Amino acid sequence: MSEPRQILVTSALPYANGSIHLGHMLEYIQTDMWVRFQKLRGNQCTYVCADDAHGSAIMLRAEKEGITPEQLIADVQAEHSSDFAEFLVDFDNFHSTHSDENRELSSMIYTRLRDAGHIANRSVTQYFDPEKGMFLADRFIKGTCPKCAAEDQYGDNCEKCGATYAPTELKNPKSAISGATPVLKDSKHFFFKLPDFQAMLQQWTRSGTLQDAVANKLAEWLDSGLQEWDISRDAPYFGFEIPDEPGKYFYVWLDAPIGYMASFKNLCARRPELDFDAYWKADSTTELYHFIGKDIVNFHALFWPAMLEGAGLRKPTAINVHGYLTVNGAKMSKSRGTFIKARTYLDHLAPEYLRYYYAAKLGRGVDDLDLNLEDFIQKVNSDLVGKVVNIASRCAGFIHKGNAGVMVGGDAAPELTEAFAAAAPSIAEAYEARDFARAMREIMALADRANAWIADKAPWSLAKQEGKQDEVQAICAQGVNLFRQLVIFLKPVLPVLAADAEAFLNVAPLRWDDHQSRLENHQLNAFKPLMSRIEPAKVEAMIAASKEDLLASQAPSAPAGNGELSKDPLAAEIEFDTFAAVDLRVALIVKAEAVPGADKLLQLTLDIGDERRNVFSGIKSAYPDPSLLEGRLTMMVANLKPRKMRFGISEGMVMAAGPGGEEIYLLSPDSGAKPGQRIK
Ligand code: MSP
Ligand code: ZN
Repeated sequence: MSEPRQILVTSALPYANGSIHLGHMLEYIQTDMWVRFQKLRGNQCTYVCADDAHGSAIMLRAEKEGITPEQLIADVQAEHSSDFAEFLVDFDNFHSTHSDENRELSSMIYTRLRDAGHIANRSVTQYFDPEKGMFLADRFIKGTCPKCAAEDQYGDNCEKCGATYAPTELKNPKSAISGATPVLKDSKHFFFKLPDFQAMLQQWTRSGTLQDAVANKLAEWLDSGLQEWDISRDAPYFGFEIPDEPGKYFYVWLDAPIGYMASFKNLCARRPELDFDAYWKADSTTELYHFIGKDIVNFHALFWPAMLEGAGLRKPTAINVHGYLTVNGAKMSKSRGTFIKARTYLDHLAPEYLRYYYAAKLGRGVDDLDLNLEDFIQKVNSDLVGKVVNIASRCAGFIHKGNAGVMVGGDAAPELTEAFAAAAPSIAEAYEARDFARAMREIMALADRANAWIADKAPWSLAKQEGKQDEVQAICAQGVNLFRQLVIFLKPVLPVLAADAEAFLNVAPLRWDDHQSRLENHQLNAFKPLMSRIEPAKVEAMIAASKEDLLASQAPSAPAGNGELSKDPLAAEIEFDTFAAVDLRVALIVKAEAVPGADKLLQLTLDIGDERRNVFSGIKSAYPDPSLLEGRLTMMVANLKPRKMRFGISEGMVMAAGPGGEEIYLLSPDSGAKPGQRIK
């Protein structure tokens, strides 16, 4: 065996001013799976992260909530930590950029850069909010687009026509914070001289540190020449003051990546085996990987390596970039209920379902990944429940009943034992390369072979025959051994399933190399169901709850740090024609029944005059006795495209109001209305 590798891994630091959603989780789950794989292999792998706590967005939000920024970031950190823990993301440390370690390291790195001549300063003219007494970042200025005259556009680009411009070009500019008309004002700013590192970056970005697509994108920037980077902001700002420059603060993106080091340093204080300097000195032999989304590549693959180089520290071994999450083929949308918070998901579904689905779809590229909710249900149920867990549940009973839970009978299928062993290096290689999708495909192909073999041997028929008891035991013991192999291969993705399987198998925590051994003359513990199927109604309830989240949150007055939250207004204005295209009708509820297997749904039969419609509606929580609805009039959308659901086809939608739960109120027309009448 080679020496264990020493690996430090990070995920991007989430902004401390918003909740974690399933888009973020794509990153944290994939990093966690990779880290768990390294640990399973026996490497010394350390996974650190932190909240990104600085910047004006956080300062302004705290102000709006009437709390200090320190209080806000403490609350958010608690929320983030529990979301991550419940998704089984196992950080070695989750720290904050607003920490002593980060203050020291940021000032150390800045001072080294300054003393080496990599910091410039000059005066910059910028919009200033005279009422609020602060300079305005581009996204805090709104006005009329200079190109297309669309109103209410941000200071740097127009969402209507796509133009980009300087905030000074906006017509009729207003501060998005106070509404005041901003004035131009000068201030001294500090710049990191990125062009000093042009040659190093040309070489470093082409040295296997980046995926090809990312390196190509960066080459465009590098070839057109690098600009100096403004790293300072004026007070008031929530961040660290720049050494020897009172009233000037580090821009949040200066100290954010240093937060990776700070979190690690904070951990080193509790873990004597970790040596901070050994990991960060220029000639370190340890490995350093950053997992990030494609939107923050320039910070990680240009500014960050240049800062590290300039400060005499090591550079990352690689930056692993992933694409964006879409849901049902589109950008996550609050109004469609597909902007799903981590917490909302956890309220309805088990974390391992999503971990597996992400793994099954994640390749090594930077393509976006689609969470198609129907495919999600289908894939998880068929692969995990139908293939993997099925092997153990088919075999365990016979071993318990026929041989008191002791596995015996030798290797009943050497060709399968051989095939599983032969697949291990290739699965490991796929994990190492972050080609999780390939790893999952290879594992499921093995599961298919195991199931086919058991089906062919049919121990359930043999068990009914005289004198076949030994054969039944050998087949089932072999089945359990194959199941054990699969659990080892899946352990980075499904740590809870693995722990439950270890309890059933009555073995110590499995490591990767355990796939080379088998269990023989081994006592099993009782078998408990390891995973249940995803109920489609749970997914629907999650979508419904995500829509409720939207209603609960008022439109933010200032955009959130990542801009994403502000771009999906509650209800955009529509033209009359759009409204007129909706066929709204009075409907008579002829029949209302609960749907077996769905805890939120009612099945309604609606009379709309000339025809009857079958509609599934998520209103059961408010109408526990559905028969009371029968005979009552309500309103329905009659020309909604029919939707195929697990229980049947839903042919329209009834209209109700209210926040949800028991408070859902079906709309009704005044008495005298007749089924089928249209709303005009
Ligand atoms: N605070 C910065 C990162 C600083 S790292 C020194 C930031 N925070 S973020 O909260 O906006 O995003 C955190 C990570 O989640 C980023 O890598 C980002 O790309 C990723 N994602 C945020 N939304 C995402 C999707 N919808 N899909 C996939 N990843 C997404 O950026
Ligand atoms: Zn425009």
